[in-house]
Amino acid sequence: MPHGTDLLPPRYAVFGHPVGHSLSPAIHRMFGEQCGVALEYTAIDVTPAAFDDAVRRFLAHAHGANVTLPHKAAALALADECSAAARRAGSANVLTRLPDGRLAAHNTDGAGLVRDLTGRQQCALRGRRVLLLGAGGAARGVAWDLLDAGVGELTIVNRTPDTAAALAGALGVARVRARYWQDLAELGSFDLIVHATSAGVLGQPLVLPHGLATAQTVGYDLSYGSAAQSFLAWARAAGVRTACDGLGMLVEQAADAFVLWHGRRPDTDPVYAHLRTTGA
Ligand code: ATR
Repeated sequence: MPHGTDLLPPRYAVFGHPVGHSLSPAIHRMFGEQCGVALEYTAIDVTPAAFDDAVRRFLAHAHGANVTLPHKAAALALADECSAAARRAGSANVLTRLPDGRLAAHNTDGAGLVRDLTGRQQCALRGRRVLLLGAGGAARGVAWDLLDAGVGELTIVNRTPDTAAALAGALGVARVRARYWQDLAELGSFDLIVHATSAGVLGQPLVLPHGLATAQTVGYDLSYGSAAQSFLAWARAAGVRTACDGLGMLVEQAADAFVLWHGRRPDTDPVYAHLRTTGA
């Protein structure tokens, strides 16, 4: 006979601070309905000081967790094992509880970005010139996947140049170079510009030269909602082919988490369309 708790749907949650705005509960509920998978998914707000304890207590009974800002590095640190993507990014956005109770960390952000770019946004990456603005956690979460997708040249520009140089060094291939923020106007134009700074989240202005973009450029902000607006406004003013926020990446990284937890790949398009029309 099953125990009482075995009759309840498996539990999942996203941990963040703040996390009230998170779309992950809605996304996973929609995936679950679509795939006929019963699940309970909530948002849990914890401070960095309380994160470790809260996640361990939750995962003692639950099946998995998503982790968002500012806990992604801490999520990797607390796990007993990790995927190659999480290790190289230095952060995790997905935790799974293994059958023996140990915790495994994964990072599906970069794969989610590449799938959104190459699929939904029809942005081919092979051989392309790519500019990555920022060298913090968000940038590290996607840089390796852009290289894996075959970009021809990855230029990393960060306000603090040492951080860009460190990321370029960690990536360790000749296709990657770090450049100074004040030299942006001399770098020419790019096929893809990925905005990975936290300026938008912080409500700080972003000053970029228009010459970075052409009518063929795709401008992509890793965040969505109000945090993406200043970069998207710049990209449109600079005349890009496509200016898009990270909503598609959010849905795609969630789909990879769903596969890890449930072994089924949901169809992301109706979920993306629903979130887009409901004003995410
Ligand atoms: P996240 O996990 O969101 O990437 P992070 O690791 O703190 O957060 O990194 C923030 C990134 O945004 C860094 O690249 C940061 O540049 P610095 O290394 O110089 O701090 C960048 N950033 C934050 N505010 C910025 C601003 N106003 N203009 C340009 N870059 C900014």
